Amino acid sequence: MPHIVTAAELPVAELLIRAEQWRTRLQANPAPPVQPRAALIALLFYEPSTRTRAAFEQACVLLGCHPLVITAEASSIVKGESLQDTVRTLCAQGVRGIVIRHPQAGAPVAAVQVADAPILNAGDGAHEHPTQALLDLYTLWRRYGMPDPTTRWLAGRKVAIVGDIRHSRVARSNLTLLTQAGAEVWLCAPPTLLPDAPLPHATHTHDTDAAIRDADVVMALRLQTERMAQGLLPSLNAYRRDYQINAERLRLAKPDCVVMHPGPIQRGVEIDDAVADGAQSLILEQVRNGVSVRVAALEYALGEW
Ligand code: NCD
Repeated sequence: MPHIVTAAELPVAELLIRAEQWRTRLQANPAPPVQPRAALIALLFYEPSTRTRAAFEQACVLLGCHPLVITAEASSIVKGESLQDTVRTLCAQGVRGIVIRHPQAGAPVAAVQVADAPILNAGDGAHEHPTQALLDLYTLWRRYGMPDPTTRWLAGRKVAIVGDIRHSRVARSNLTLLTQAGAEVWLCAPPTLLPDAPLPHATHTHDTDAAIRDADVVMALRLQTERMAQGLLPSLNAYRRDYQINAERLRLAKPDCVVMHPGPIQRGVEIDDAVADGAQSLILEQVRNGVSVRVAALEYALGEW
């Protein structure tokens, strides 16, 4: 049974192609006819989410399944039930798949140990967010004309990921997929927001200009204040001055550089309005692609191809 816990275990090339088929299908008809089936997919969202949750819900609907959304406040975890017992319970009721977003790194691994339905990680603590990385990769793959996805098609491209790297599951999963496709990845953050141990195959820096210079892609990340110990940032103004992606900084990148952000955006902090809404921004394209990628991922996990 294929679970999706980390980015490294994804069959990336097949998923990109499947996502593209879905995108084409949805472009022709955003609400295609589906054959409903008596299949429930549980979406355990123990942390806030807008786009990831909406995309997974839509993926369920497009595959004829019913999404059962369970949030922490409305579930038995407030009565002390463990995640593993929740997963056992849902499996005993016959759910066909379980999507999990959880504040604790490793929660989906704990779920896999007791599940007899596929587990899809929708973000666990500062660990991994594999389908976000996949949709980011898919967005770049389309941008670069859909080259053979089995090759190192990002070779020669520089990607700068700027922001709170330390607490970012998006950065970690993206690093895996981007370097796998051949990209040169720079991780840029204030010293207190870089990981304790350097992540593999990446250049780490706290010099934003150096990270952005000649970049093909700049990915901005939100300050994950909900995961931050006190005192990691001396001042928000200093952070803006040194790390914000704005038009002036972006001029250091290649002229055709694209700007990405997994969302949610904190406008005026890690990115300014002109860049977020500008011609180089792929931010809404990422959101759009999130749906086709989640349908492809869910189909894969359900063993339907
Ligand atoms: C991210 C997440 O939750 O990890 N958002 C997302 O899923 N699109 C990034 C964030 O919260 O900053």
